[in-house]
Amino acid sequence: MKNIIALGGSNSKKSINKTFASYVANQIVDVQVTIVDLNDFDLPLYGIDTETNNGIPEDVKRLNSLLELSDGLVISLAEHNGSYSTAFKNAFDWLSRIDKKLWKNKPMLLMATTPGARGGIGVLSSAKMAFPHLGGNIIADFSLPSFYDNFSENGIKDEELNTVLKEKIKIFQEAL
Ligand SMILES: Cc1cc2nc3c(=O)[nH]c(=O)nc-3n(C[C@H](O)[C@H](O)[C@H](O)COP(=O)(O)O)c2cc1C
Repeated sequence: MKNIIALGGSNSKKSINKTFASYVANQIVDVQVTIVDLNDFDLPLYGIDTETNNGIPEDVKRLNSLLELSDGLVISLAEHNGSYSTAFKNAFDWLSRIDKKLWKNKPMLLMATTPGARGGIGVLSSAKMAFPHLGGNIIADFSLPSFYDNFSENGIKDEELNTVLKEKIKIFQEAL
């Protein structure tokens, strides 16, 4: 059975992006889902001096191994001031020190959600530009605006958004 990772690009314990990535990953049939929570990884703030003095932390290697062992990635990015959350950027900077192609060409469903109406379109655009240079194999992308209005545990309330998301999930599933 294929193994996919669901990752929220946030270290918030109540992360809406973790909730959303997990929900979407669980819509994919016949796969095993591993939920990766950045809080479970002890990652110091990346700096070249820290790396030179202490090397790559064990938890960065552990995260890298999880990516290596997976068959696909469902990622939902938090948006902080139009960009990645610090926790996510820190993790991905560390990962890039092990492997410049850190996303390892695994099929990726790349998403973002925010409580606001723009749905993280800023961070999603940045990632869509940057990830292909970092081994990112973005099969489909999706932005969910106004998370608290549009999301429930039973699915996406807005019919139009739900139809688009289902289509993206289908395309991703076919690429696994
Ligand atoms: C420092 C900070 C900056 C933020 N910047 C943005 C932003 O640029 N755009 C936006 O839509 N929401 C912004 N927000 C609100 C986040 O979208 C919201 O906190 C969301 O819940 C973050 O995702 P998470 O729950 O997965 O961590 C910001 C929140 C914080 C704490």
